[in-house]
Amino acid sequence: MSAKIFDLTGKVVVVTGAAGGIGMAVCRQLGGSGATIVLSDIDASGLELSKKELESRGIKCGTFVSNTSIESEVIAFYQYVSKEFGVPDILVNNAAQGTHTPPQDTSLEIWNRVIGTSLTGYFLNAREFARLVIPAKKPAAIVNISSIAGSSAIGRGNFAYSTAKGGVNQFTRELAIEWAKSKIRVNAIQPCSVNTPGWRKWVETEGEAAKALTTLLLRGIPMGRVAEPEDIANAVHFLASDAAAMITGTILPVDGGNLAYNAGGTLGEY
Ligand SMILES: NC(=O)c1ccc[n+]([C@@H]2O[C@H](COP(=O)([O-])OP(=O)(O)OC[C@H]3O[C@@H](n4cnc5c(N)ncnc54)[C@H](O)[C@@H]3O)[C@@H](O)[C@H]2O)c1
Repeated sequence: MSAKIFDLTGKVVVVTGAAGGIGMAVCRQLGGSGATIVLSDIDASGLELSKKELESRGIKCGTFVSNTSIESEVIAFYQYVSKEFGVPDILVNNAAQGTHTPPQDTSLEIWNRVIGTSLTGYFLNAREFARLVIPAKKPAAIVNISSIAGSSAIGRGNFAYSTAKGGVNQFTRELAIEWAKSKIRVNAIQPCSVNTPGWRKWVETEGEAAKALTTLLLRGIPMGRVAEPEDIANAVHFLASDAAAMITGTILPVDGGNLAYNAGGTLGEY
């Protein structure tokens, strides 16, 4: 397959939660393939750092501080996108928040914060994106960053987050059907744990407890390692590119086999 099919020259890509972690890896990957990147986040100083790095790589970009869970801020963001960059081609819904709270201790405030960012925020961004793309009759792609938590329960107080991610999976399928005729492809990616700066900070601060949990997590990943942010960015690139022209409504695990592996399985040990 020619590399041209992955070329994103002339495309405008919107990435939410782009001030760091997986979002920034996606910006580097898609920007490195020729796209202009428009980054949003609640972290203004993080956005500035991202912009500096992308520009030092020769990537054209713009930034906008926008909380994905606040409707007026999302609307303002797409007004900025359309004024400065025209009708976008690709949306990567990435900004999410979690909690580690047992269900019985979860306040409505915690629930609303997690669902607000990790599900409602995806809806608001997708809606505003489509409101620009559909009238322009422009083929487009949305990639929603979900999680393996959207398809299997992970416990440890993650239930609000997992519920949001399960919602992201179904939201992906519904939008894929709703917008197929408008030529907007909608897919999702389900990472296992990812070696982001946030993950490394957690390992450092939690010390032995983090090491023990990591050992346990790795037992569920047949490939024997957590994902790198670039593994996720590569999959986003594929789903956003013309190489995936016939793919919509897919929920793609990027998890080293984690979801495929039955908890009672044996990794080939007899
Ligand atoms: N890191 C992992 O191990 C992992 C595993 C599976 C799925 N994911 C998913 O990947 C995506 C990115 O994860 P990450 O680890 O890079 O996260 P992260 O916490 O490092 O980055 C998330 C970014 O989103 C921003 N953000 C948070 N709330 C926001 C809001 N309301 N509005 C706008 N921006 C907001 C943060 O400021 C931050 O820059 C998330 O959807 C996450 O659920 C991550």
